[in-house]
Amino acid sequence: MAGVLWLVFLSVVLPISRADDRPNFVFLVADDVGIGDVGCFGNDTIRTPNIDSIAANGAKLTQHLAAAAVCTPSRSAFLTGRLPVRFGMAGTDLPRALIFLAAPAGLPRSEVTFPQMAKDHGYQTALIGKWHLGLNCKWAGDHCHHPSKFGFDYFYGLPGSNSPECDPDNLSDMFTGPTAKIFTKRMYSRLRLWEIAGSLFLGFLALKHFQYIKWKTFIVWSFIGWSAIILLYAFLANGRQFNCVMMRDDDVIEQPLDVSTLTPRMTLEAVKFLEERKAKKEQFLLEVSYWNAHTALLPYKEFRGKSRHGLYGDTVEEMDWSIGVVMATLERLGLTNNTFVYFTSDNGAHMEIGDAGGSNGIYKGGKGQGGSEGGIRMPTLVQWPRKIRPGTVVTEATSQMDIFPTVADILKAPLPQDRVMDGRNILPLLGGAKQPSPHDFLFHYCGNVLHAVRYRPRKGSVTWKAHFASYPWLPGTSHCGVQQMVCYCDVQWGVTFNDPPLLYDVTNDPTEDRPISADSNPKYREVLDVITKAVEEHKQSLTKVDDQLAAGPLFLPRPWLQPCCNFPFCNCQEEVDLSSLKITV
Ligand SMILES: *[C@@H]1O[C@H](CO)[C@@H](O)[C@H](O)[C@H]1NC(C)=O
Ligand SMILES: *[C@@H]1O[C@H](CO)[C@@H](O)[C@H](O)[C@H]1NC(C)=O
Ligand SMILES: *[C@@H]1O[C@H](CO)[C@@H](O)[C@H](O)[C@H]1NC(C)=O
Repeated sequence: MAGVLWLVFLSVVLPISRADDRPNFVFLVADDVGIGDVGCFGNDTIRTPNIDSIAANGAKLTQHLAAAAVCTPSRSAFLTGRLPVRFGMAGTDLPRALIFLAAPAGLPRSEVTFPQMAKDHGYQTALIGKWHLGLNCKWAGDHCHHPSKFGFDYFYGLPGSNSPECDPDNLSDMFTGPTAKIFTKRMYSRLRLWEIAGSLFLGFLALKHFQYIKWKTFIVWSFIGWSAIILLYAFLANGRQFNCVMMRDDDVIEQPLDVSTLTPRMTLEAVKFLEERKAKKEQFLLEVSYWNAHTALLPYKEFRGKSRHGLYGDTVEEMDWSIGVVMATLERLGLTNNTFVYFTSDNGAHMEIGDAGGSNGIYKGGKGQGGSEGGIRMPTLVQWPRKIRPGTVVTEATSQMDIFPTVADILKAPLPQDRVMDGRNILPLLGGAKQPSPHDFLFHYCGNVLHAVRYRPRKGSVTWKAHFASYPWLPGTSHCGVQQMVCYCDVQWGVTFNDPPLLYDVTNDPTEDRPISADSNPKYREVLDVITKAVEEHKQSLTKVDDQLAAGPLFLPRPWLQPCCNFPFCNCQEEVDLSSLKITV
């Protein structure tokens, strides 16, 4: 009997005492911030002292890669540790991200996230800020894709994303406002109400005239066609009302969203969450997912005009301020030593929008270009004083998908066994181990098209990168120009496929200026052979999945899925007192 009791005692007490030295987690995720926008990665004109201090106190990862170069797929890979092509979140060419909150697309329920894993291990978890991985499936309130279904106990933020249409001074009408310049010209230029409705009508009329359809069919289909067009128009013309939405847990608390006070509000929420966990002695995982620095650029008034890089710079500096408050709160609560802090961005800076976008430093390409260094090499820092020495620099290739297995290792949690995980544990590298990347290969996708492959042989120090595709860059640039909004992924948008692929040594030629030729380097054939074989094996590991970002679920908003407060007005404002924030710029 005593033996049994002792066993019960052990099984109850031991996990708890072990749990006590497991760290807390804080993930700070920026939006569209490039590797050239951050001080510790070489920017000397944007002030990011708080982000830089994470580098000084921890590790700087100079070759940390996003799994995609647009937000929805990239964020889904970060949370799941898996390539988005494995679960239908890679998207096809247009636009590879969710655009309507009233669409049923989103992260499939079968995916497991690392916040869910932490929650299962007793952590209190919160997402503050941008989600952008879907909301509803069948009705407005089923919240089948809501953060709470993927391991977050608490959610305060945007189920969607900040976007140009969220700017109240720039008409939210996507057809006529200034946003139309960048957002809609290409996508919707052919989608003018009268033209489409007219041609549909004439088409049906012609069918009727030649007796192919009956009058009844004619009327029914005309009605359906008209309704779909009017609906789409209503959603596009009122984007701010319908898509710029704030929620707290399951409730819509602000509609339309006031972006200009969002960062201070999120900061207050983060501080409150940390203070509550400390008071209740609870272990926590907090993700602060900033809208900064995605257009519309609407920093809080205290930050406007303060940077040397216009509204874009103001927005980055605002985020840096907020990160400073979060870090100072950890310090004040005595939590710094045993908190794993991770800072990154979801994809490279948006180059097609000029000064409204940021900088990808020395790297070519940017947002949208899943095969380009500028699109996927993210400014990334990790701080965890207990395990990571200040000033550590990790130059080996790592991925945002590595966070899942790394957190699993820290928690001593088993990885899911029923699926392919693409991430690897990078704790040894963070701890300063001198060893090659845990990835022999990294597959760089643009949508669901494989654009490039990284190969890190176990021996030597070189990382190779083969480019299967090239983007139609404007001469003298590495972007595709305003007309394309971002570079797309396939031939119909001017992408060319290279046969044989272009090969670069990204260790010695990170700017990818000098393709290796078969004549100049005896390794050429050997490296390409290994890569070709790896691609074949990789393709075998993919299974056929439903495309979550197909045109149907993505482009046709369903009114019955629309989140709405104060129905039928869909209008409400959150009351917040920001006076407690001390902002010094
Ligand atoms: C509105 O958009 C234009 C162009 O996109 C930009 O130059 C301007 O700063 C924006 N206005 C505000 C108030 O943000
Ligand atoms: C944090 O760790 C450092 C060095 O390991 C130590 O000097 C300091 O006292 C620790 N602080 C707290 C609050 O535990
Ligand atoms: C710093 O960032 C700004 C804004 O993105 C950019 O214009 C500038 O070129 C960057 N500076 C460096 C040295 O990369």
